[in-house]
Amino acid sequence: MIPQIKTIEEYHQQYTQSIEHPETFWAGIAEHFEWKQKWTQVLEWNFTEPKVKWFGSGKLNITENCLDRHQTTRRNQTAIIWEPNNPGDKSRHISYGELFELVQQFANVLIQQGVKKGDRICIYLPMVPEAVVAMLACARVGAIHSVVFAGFSSQSLADRINDAECKLLITADGMIRGEKKVELKQIADEAMQLSPCVERCIVFNHKSFTVQMQAGRDLWWNDLMAAASPLHEAESMDSEDPLFILYTSGSTGKPKGVLHTTAGYMVYAAYTFKNVFQYQDQDVFCCTADIGWVTGHTYIVYGPLLNGAVTLMFEGIPSYPDTGRFWSLIEKHKVNYFYTAPTAIRSLQLHGEEPFKGKDLSSLKVLGTVGEPINEEAWHWYHQNAGKGNCPIVDTWWQTETGGILISPLAGITLLKPAYATLPLPGVQPVLVDEKGNEISGNGVEGNLCIKFPWPGIARSLYGDHERFRSMYFSTYPNLYFTGDGCKRDEDGYYRITGRVDDVINVSGHRIGTGEVEDAIDEHGYVVESAVVAFPHEIKGQGIYAFVICDRNVPDEEVLRSEIRNHVSKMIGAFARPDKIQMVNALPKTRSGKIMRRILRKIAEGDTSNLGDISTLIDPLVIDAIKAGAENLNG
Ligand code: WT7
Repeated sequence: MIPQIKTIEEYHQQYTQSIEHPETFWAGIAEHFEWKQKWTQVLEWNFTEPKVKWFGSGKLNITENCLDRHQTTRRNQTAIIWEPNNPGDKSRHISYGELFELVQQFANVLIQQGVKKGDRICIYLPMVPEAVVAMLACARVGAIHSVVFAGFSSQSLADRINDAECKLLITADGMIRGEKKVELKQIADEAMQLSPCVERCIVFNHKSFTVQMQAGRDLWWNDLMAAASPLHEAESMDSEDPLFILYTSGSTGKPKGVLHTTAGYMVYAAYTFKNVFQYQDQDVFCCTADIGWVTGHTYIVYGPLLNGAVTLMFEGIPSYPDTGRFWSLIEKHKVNYFYTAPTAIRSLQLHGEEPFKGKDLSSLKVLGTVGEPINEEAWHWYHQNAGKGNCPIVDTWWQTETGGILISPLAGITLLKPAYATLPLPGVQPVLVDEKGNEISGNGVEGNLCIKFPWPGIARSLYGDHERFRSMYFSTYPNLYFTGDGCKRDEDGYYRITGRVDDVINVSGHRIGTGEVEDAIDEHGYVVESAVVAFPHEIKGQGIYAFVICDRNVPDEEVLRSEIRNHVSKMIGAFARPDKIQMVNALPKTRSGKIMRRILRKIAEGDTSNLGDISTLIDPLVIDAIKAGAENLNG
């Protein structure tokens, strides 16, 4: 059993030990896993190349830790509860024994399809247990999974497949989320037109939609499974062998494939799950994220299964068939831990207390939030209405790159402060730095958040581009991992994340690079140039505001706006559609040709009283025109 901190004194003690003797500390945690061969060196690292190796020379397979080791004690215990989009459809309960068998079978399917250790496999599936089976089967045979969120467009899917040169794609006929039908196989077909590296496509029949199956390439999941043996000996993996790639957005360029490796990720996912949520055996854990994001990887799949937990997978959305869906789901499955995003909380807050009426939420012990800063009002609303004032809220700060939670309260142990992620977990050494990279010490301060020592779950590289990895995270401030977030440390030493300080926008917890949206907008025939910034949005946290220069007279601005939005949907996905589009004649640029986004951000926020220093602009008059246009647009 993975150790669990029980008191705040114990937290402080362990934290100190983890900083003074990190190797001893993490070796003590790693001992609680199944190894095929023990490590010889706990940690080897530098943040200059950068190079990070945890549990060097260890051999293991993460699926033996998720599945095999539970067979003697939990064969008949539920591993996954699946709640479908339509509450009238049957939910599923899959035991550790059944999951073990399915994963072994699918591992054999992969081998029959020629999959070898180190191959990349793309998973583009709805929120169904088969997605978990596919991920674990990849890990079992040593293939690297790259899960792509099923809300991405065919173009985005193709970009991700091509970047990792995936030879196999696993998808489904389609899905229905809320009332929206999504033809996944059709989108996958379009993507495969652009991705010649895909040799085979395995299709899971989820909704019996009509699909085109290309002979020689496309195969049905069920046919392959029926013919596959349920016994598979897990591949022996090195601690530092890649486990998965997950694409995320940065401030510039194409999405990057964040690479996580086996042992460090495993130890960190399992440890943080057990300690942050204070998970107790047999309890039901529900994380509402999609497995297409890191939250789903770590806290729907790996963290819970490594702990032998019961993990609930919800296919639907919070507003279908009505805005009480989360609360019905908690009541129906007697959920004990509920982990969701601030944007979902804010959208439900609009509907008041009515949706809670008559629902028994007494099973709840702990609430969690993740993905973006939570405002105090939403925090209190969640605490009062979902938690009835009795459940601690863990505001968990982390990133795709961190593999697991870095700063968070431990449920029921850490004294809470609304909207604060509070304290670093053992092994995590946050520092705040100023613009010049000087460390800001003491409390009651604010700066850019960096981490100065590796924790086991830190990403090891960007797939195929280690230099970009170095320059994105380790070059801004020498010898520090730079998170891209701004952060306060208050008088009590508590951390409060204030949001991104780079050109990354967080829309409903979806991380979007301004550059990606600009590239998509610029492809429109009328558009010469665009600049995209965030503005505060009541529900989504941040919305997307695009300033667009056109090279000719626009016959109908509304038509152009909808064309631009549709094009962004097509290139990226519907979640990246700009909320506001303002046509402008020019953008505020410095003499060196750089767009002054700071000014555009202010205008988008509707705060133009003090635009700061504009002396470096070539033509300050441009600003007056943009301000006037913005007032027009926003009424
Ligand atoms: C960015 C990472 C890792 C989970 C899902 C998002 C923001 C995340 C919090 C929080 C304030 C948060 C940060 C971070 N963020 N959690 N509790 N409070 N901000 O992963 O897509 O990699 O995004 O999400 O800005 O850098 P991601």
